Amino acid sequence: MSAIPVGGPGLPQRRTLVTEIPGPASRTLQARRSAAVARGVSSTLPVFVTAAGGGVLVDADGNSLIDFGSGIAVTSVGNAAPPVVSRVSSQVAQFTHTCFMVTPYEGYVAVCEELARRTPGSFDKRSALFNSGAEAVENAVKIARHYTGRSAVVAFDHAYHGRTNLTMALTAKNMPYKQGFGPFAGEIYRMPMAYPLRWPDGPEACETEALEVVKSLIHTQVGESNVAAVIIEPIQGEGGFIVPPDGFLRGLSEFCREHGIVFIADEIQSGFCRTGDWFACGHEGVEPDLITTAKGIADGLPLAAVTGRAEIMDAVHPGGLGGTYGGNPVACAAALGAIETMVAQDLAGRARRIGDTMLPRLRKLASAYPVIADVRGRGAMLAIELTRPGTLEPDPRSTAAVAAFCHRNGLVVLTCGTFGNVLRFLPPLVIGEDLLDEGLTILEDAFASL
Ligand SMILES: Cc1ncc(COP(=O)(O)O)c(C=O)c1O
Repeated sequence: MSAIPVGGPGLPQRRTLVTEIPGPASRTLQARRSAAVARGVSSTLPVFVTAAGGGVLVDADGNSLIDFGSGIAVTSVGNAAPPVVSRVSSQVAQFTHTCFMVTPYEGYVAVCEELARRTPGSFDKRSALFNSGAEAVENAVKIARHYTGRSAVVAFDHAYHGRTNLTMALTAKNMPYKQGFGPFAGEIYRMPMAYPLRWPDGPEACETEALEVVKSLIHTQVGESNVAAVIIEPIQGEGGFIVPPDGFLRGLSEFCREHGIVFIADEIQSGFCRTGDWFACGHEGVEPDLITTAKGIADGLPLAAVTGRAEIMDAVHPGGLGGTYGGNPVACAAALGAIETMVAQDLAGRARRIGDTMLPRLRKLASAYPVIADVRGRGAMLAIELTRPGTLEPDPRSTAAVAAFCHRNGLVVLTCGTFGNVLRFLPPLVIGEDLLDEGLTILEDAFASL
């Protein structure tokens, strides 16, 4: 095998298959992995990556795969984006850690300033930084409870908020996230999600009924005055890229305001230009009280944040929030490089253009293959849902078959959905048109092969 190439956008932006997928080098590594790594940590596609950049992942066998996953909506600015590499390299040579709670540094403050600038709402804001999305969600709930003095938290069907104890309780799907891991945190109340395809009386009724149903259930089953927070993903991620009808999020946030409930938007998957705006809430002009972010914020370095109204964030006493590594200086340097790239390359605009390229092709596919019941999403956060033709019965087998075909042919796609029947597309926002086009052609071939 030739020498390992250097990652970043300089990698040849083309699909090249030199072995079967996974190839022999990946299979050898997989054997080592099986003997050393816990079985519970699984991988979608066991090719071992040696370099990545732009829209490609290069594996240990020298295959170059098209990336429609971005490491689950993380490498939006492209893997090893030059501003990230240079800022991280300089920071790592200066100092790697002091603990912001011991002796602070400017990078942390600069990231919080950027968060205040980019998140919806022109009111006074504060942020706190953490290591993972789940940790940010946990802290958003802590802050909301402290501020309101209430304990109930409302979450939704099909929600995904993480794998820690509290966030497992907030997450809807049992297998694989919750099975056998209880008991779970209490005072979590689950409401029906405004899921147009699966709303009992159909998509139009979803638009008129969903908000009223949720408000009524909160009133009768929880009591508004007991609710500290309502937490929702503006576009649900793991649950199936479910886009609620226009007006649902706005109505929910107004209901929260009316009752002194903290409205938390979990934008961990949908944030940072992914949907064609800095945040998915922006499409509806919704201004959450608190917003949780992670994933796209730092090109893969572990960083997450809670950002929100100053009076809510600052209700917590000094020392009530934090952690040893939260807002690590190297991760903050990466975030500043990623945000710089999003601004310089107008990646929100680029996400909209990706949507403009992909959506017509996906809709055409849906009209050719009745197994596709729905095409949905925004910008570069798109999905198709597969069912038995003419019914709403989920078809996870065809979904898995399409994904496997794509993988064998060098296109990394991910599945999701409560019923495992959704193919989701999250290409890096810097992916070239040629790769996008080639990836879509592989997807079309996959449906033709069913
Ligand atoms: C909407 C949402 N919230 C929370 C999380 C948890 O983030 P992490 O895996 O960084 O803990 C995820 C991860 O997929 C997510 O998509």
